[in-house]
Amino acid sequence: MKFLLSLVLCGALCLGSVGCSKKESAKKADDGKLLIGLSLADLKEERWQRDRQMFVDEAARLGAEVLVQDASGDPNTQIQQCENLLVRGVKVLVVIPKNADAASPIVEKARAKGVKVLCYDRLITNSEPDLYVSFDNVRVGEIQAAEILKMVPKGNYLELKGDPGDKNADMVHQGHMNILQPAIDAGKIKIVLSQACDKWQGSEAKRITEDALTRFKLDAIVASNDGTAAGAIAALEAKKLAGKVPISGQDADLLNCQYVARGIQAVTVYKPIKKLATFSAQAAVSLAKGEPVQGLNAKVNNGTIEVPTVFLDPVPVTKDNIDATVIADGYHSKEDVYKN
Ligand code: GAL
Repeated sequence: MKFLLSLVLCGALCLGSVGCSKKESAKKADDGKLLIGLSLADLKEERWQRDRQMFVDEAARLGAEVLVQDASGDPNTQIQQCENLLVRGVKVLVVIPKNADAASPIVEKARAKGVKVLCYDRLITNSEPDLYVSFDNVRVGEIQAAEILKMVPKGNYLELKGDPGDKNADMVHQGHMNILQPAIDAGKIKIVLSQACDKWQGSEAKRITEDALTRFKLDAIVASNDGTAAGAIAALEAKKLAGKVPISGQDADLLNCQYVARGIQAVTVYKPIKKLATFSAQAAVSLAKGEPVQGLNAKVNNGTIEVPTVFLDPVPVTKDNIDATVIADGYHSKEDVYKN
């Protein structure tokens, strides 16, 4: 009996050590660096190009190596690319999901390999990711709607929502309604049209706005990001209404900061990408090392669990404070913002 017990004990120890050495080897790339996978939905918007560079730079500063994949807007491609990153031995997957629901298998596959998952700026649903880091997207919507309502307390509103597969779009819309609903209930404003813009595309926003302009007198447009705002502004320009119909945005894209400086766009919402990217890189390294992530300040239900979350604060940017925010932060130069 004693012999059998010692055999079992020895086996357990060996398994433990094999498991450990195997796990240890998976942790390090050939040159011994910690491997992190960064899976981008696409690099269409200006901001994602910055997110990528700032994330990679901070991870390198922390001694980690980042393998980057761009899914070019295809949810299935994103799943395949993440499977490949797992095969290559990443210890953490940082994912900007193209589609919140379609990305859930990525989390399941990662967890099956003991790999942690960080949802970067967009939530993955119906799965058990380890962390969601974003800006408070409800607050983004509230900032957009509040600035427009201040300028247009009465009248007809067009709401341009984001991509229907992006949970951020839902949260931004919730923020809009938190601000606009009381004015709707009081009969002061009316949302004559509210539509989602597939893939946040400016061309979609332009088409929707052109259609709305043929059917309604528009007094205000609550657009959910700068790409859609730029599309709507193109439609307004064709009717010589640019600058006459207040419009919101998000991301502080250069073109839209120029619009804000010229009074063509009322507000954009600046999300200090450097803060998001550097914090996420630090959090990814902590997750990879099995260390606790500091700064958790929320939990978001993703349909399966209450995901541990860090929300950073978005910043309203109008003509009055663009110098003190976007320019002071070095996100755009004064020369570029005031060009044209
Ligand atoms: C959203 C994000 C916005 C904007 C949009 C377009 O998920 O919250 O800031 O970047 O994607 O890519």
